[in-house]
Amino acid sequence: MMRTKGTLQLSHDIGSYTGYAGLPPLVGLHSMRDASSTGLTVAESSERLKRLHWSLRRLHNIFVSHITNMPVYELKMAFSLHAHYCAEHVGELANRVREMRQPPYGLEVSPHAALDMFFDEILAAPGTEELLLGIYERAVPAIVSALERIIAETNKLFDHPTWRLCRLTLVEIQDVQQYGAEAVRCLVSNETRDALQPWLSLLNRMLAAAGGLDGTDEPSGETIERHFSTLPYKYDPVPKRDERFQDPYNMGVNAEAMLFNPKIEPLPKTIMLYFKRMREIDVPEMMASILAEAGDKPWEYYRDMTRQLWDEARHAMMGELGFVAMGIDWSQIPFNFTWSLGLNTKLTSKERHAVLYTIEQGLMPKKTGKEYEWEVAIATANPLTALIQDYDWADEILHARIGREWIVPEIGSQAEAMAYGDKAWSKVLVDWNKWKEEGLTEHRNWWPEVYRAACIHWGIEPDPQLLAYNTTYQNTRADLKEVAF
Ligand SMILES: [Fe+2]
Ligand SMILES: [Fe+2]
Ligand SMILES: [Fe+2]
Repeated sequence: MMRTKGTLQLSHDIGSYTGYAGLPPLVGLHSMRDASSTGLTVAESSERLKRLHWSLRRLHNIFVSHITNMPVYELKMAFSLHAHYCAEHVGELANRVREMRQPPYGLEVSPHAALDMFFDEILAAPGTEELLLGIYERAVPAIVSALERIIAETNKLFDHPTWRLCRLTLVEIQDVQQYGAEAVRCLVSNETRDALQPWLSLLNRMLAAAGGLDGTDEPSGETIERHFSTLPYKYDPVPKRDERFQDPYNMGVNAEAMLFNPKIEPLPKTIMLYFKRMREIDVPEMMASILAEAGDKPWEYYRDMTRQLWDEARHAMMGELGFVAMGIDWSQIPFNFTWSLGLNTKLTSKERHAVLYTIEQGLMPKKTGKEYEWEVAIATANPLTALIQDYDWADEILHARIGREWIVPEIGSQAEAMAYGDKAWSKVLVDWNKWKEEGLTEHRNWWPEVYRAACIHWGIEPDPQLLAYNTTYQNTRADLKEVAF
């Protein structure tokens, strides 16, 4: 062993040990005393990681399952982000378990029946308030505690990859907890909380029966009856929106027909760009249905698709930001949900994914694609619009790749996937007149009033010709193809 100046002095007092020239030993991870006296065995550490892995996997599924039918827009967006965090960490935790153990890893099976019952109950929560309390006051805090415990108890030298991974995971799950606390504060009344007390206690007892989320306690041994989850959970594919989203069948203003018309100047197109971005709320609503019904797929599939889902949610919020920055009340604009509704209720999950792929491939051509939108944004000379389109375009490159990796092999070749998606898309777009006949919408032309408001913001006079814009989606779908009847 190399003896250096700082360590020459032999001492039995482990506490006085220092590195060369007083440098902290063990890269500052532990003192020698702590390093020699703390730590979990590989078996203990991997058992806890497996519990955390399973819990985040279940939580991911809870978020994803409630994106479509969550009416509150902000929570739809929050569930998208929180699902993304869960998906990333599930993959990393599984990798760490695989590093420490030989197969079988036991990552596909529930570590304890009572733990599953705990998550089943939250998944089956019948309303927003129950869901928020279950997720953010029970599941997430239990995951945070389990992470804090393993971080404190495992040896940072021996089990450094676990320690590091859990510490980084904790940062994001604490963000989830913090946002969740805000959401509960804003949306859960004291009366509801009081009324739900027996159920919240039931959730505690389920965790106690599982020996805590991480299995570090002695299981209570209690047999517990289910409350909300007596019947198997059924995913609700019908998108819901809150009361700010009006006239959801409205297909009265064709944004693409204006956007891609080279004769129209760039500035007014800002409205159509923001509209198209915010309308992307329907993509998480639709992608959630693919994920909720995907079944047996490798976790990388869930991770990639959830990342894309979150990107689409971000795009919606970029559009929201655009409108707010312009002082436009976006609740006056109908963001239709006909796309997510049609896909979710009329197509198989393979068809839905193929439609998404077809659309995203269609965004690549120069003349009617993301690059063109970005050029329009640059031409408006508004830095925010340019930045929105810059990232919208960048994300789309990744999405096209995700599609190529996951849906193309499922169908065959790229051309076959495109044709398959194209045909499926046509199936859901034939209802424009029917919705009107049924009184679901008048397909009101919202353009003139929004354009007028924007002109006030820009300090310009509305162009009478543009004010008269009145092209709908009756005969043309969003990629400007004629609707096939
Ligand atoms: Fe998108
Ligand atoms: Fe987008
Ligand atoms: Fe996309």
